[in-house]
Amino acid sequence: MDVALEGDGLDPRRMPRHVACVMDGNGRWATKRGLPRTEGHRAGEEALLDATKGAVELGLEWFTVYAFSTENWRRPHEEVRFLLGVIADDLLTRRRDELHGLGVRIRFAGRRDWRVPKWILRRMDETVELTRHNKGTTLTVAFNYGGRAEIVDAARALVASGIPAAKVDERALRRHFYLPDMPDPDLFIRTSGEYRISNFLLWEIAYSELVFLDVLWPDFRREHLRQAVREYQRRERRFGRTGEQRDQEGLPS
Ligand code: IPE
Ligand code: IPE
Ligand code: MG
Repeated sequence: MDVALEGDGLDPRRMPRHVACVMDGNGRWATKRGLPRTEGHRAGEEALLDATKGAVELGLEWFTVYAFSTENWRRPHEEVRFLLGVIADDLLTRRRDELHGLGVRIRFAGRRDWRVPKWILRRMDETVELTRHNKGTTLTVAFNYGGRAEIVDAARALVASGIPAAKVDERALRRHFYLPDMPDPDLFIRTSGEYRISNFLLWEIAYSELVFLDVLWPDFRREHLRQAVREYQRRERRFGRTGEQRDQEGLPS
C-alpha cells in the first residue's frame, strides 16, 4: 500500500496507467494579465515540469501531453516561432537533464515533416536517445501531432507494407502508429474549460475517461493532476459490458 497516495484520497490499486493531457489556456492566461500570449507559453512550460513531477510521484507509467497540433501552424508566424523555441530551448535543452535525472523517458509523437526545423528534430532525437533507458514515467510530447494525421500515416504505411485487405484489422493498423507500444490513455484531461478534443489521440481515446478542468494550463500544478485522477477513480469503466459483468470479471479499472 502506498501511504502517500492513500493520504491524498487516491486508491493505489486503481491508478491510471496512461494519462493524456491537452495543455490549453496559455493565451488566455497571459491576456488576463495584460501580457502578450507568448508569456503564457513560457509560463506553461513551468506547469509542464511540475505536472511531470506529479506524474512521476504518482508512479504513472505513461504521461502524454499535447504541445503543438498540426493545426497550430495556422497561428501567427511569431507565435509559432515562439512556441517552437519554448519546446526546443526550454523543454529540450534546459529541462531535459532535470527530467533525465528523475528517470523520465522522453519521446515524441507527431509528423516529422518539412515544417519542423531540422535542428529541432535533431534535438528531439538527442533527447530520446539520452533518456531511452530510463525506467520511470514515459513523457510523450505530442508535437506537430494530429489524430487524423496519425491514422492517415498509419494507413499509408500499412498499404505500403503490402498487407492483403483481409488481414487489415485494428491491431495491424495500430502497429503503424507513431508509438505502437504506447497503451491507450485511461484518463484524458483538458484544461481551460474547453470541452473538445482538438484532434488529439482520436483513435486512442476510444475508451478513455474524459476530465475537463477549468484551470488555465500555466496555473496547472501536480495537485490538479491528482484531482483529475481522483475524479477518474470515481468513474465506472465498462468497455461495453454491463456494470454487473464488470464486478464479476474484475475488469481493469
Ligand atoms: C495552449 O494554449 C498552447 C498551445 C495550443 C500550443 P493556447 O495558446 O491555445 O491558449 P488559449 O486557448 O488561446 O487560451
Ligand atoms: C489544442 O489546443 C492543441 C494544444 C494544446 C497543443 P488549441 O487551443 O489549439 O485547440 P482549439 O483550436 O481551441 O480547438
Ligand atoms: Mg487554446
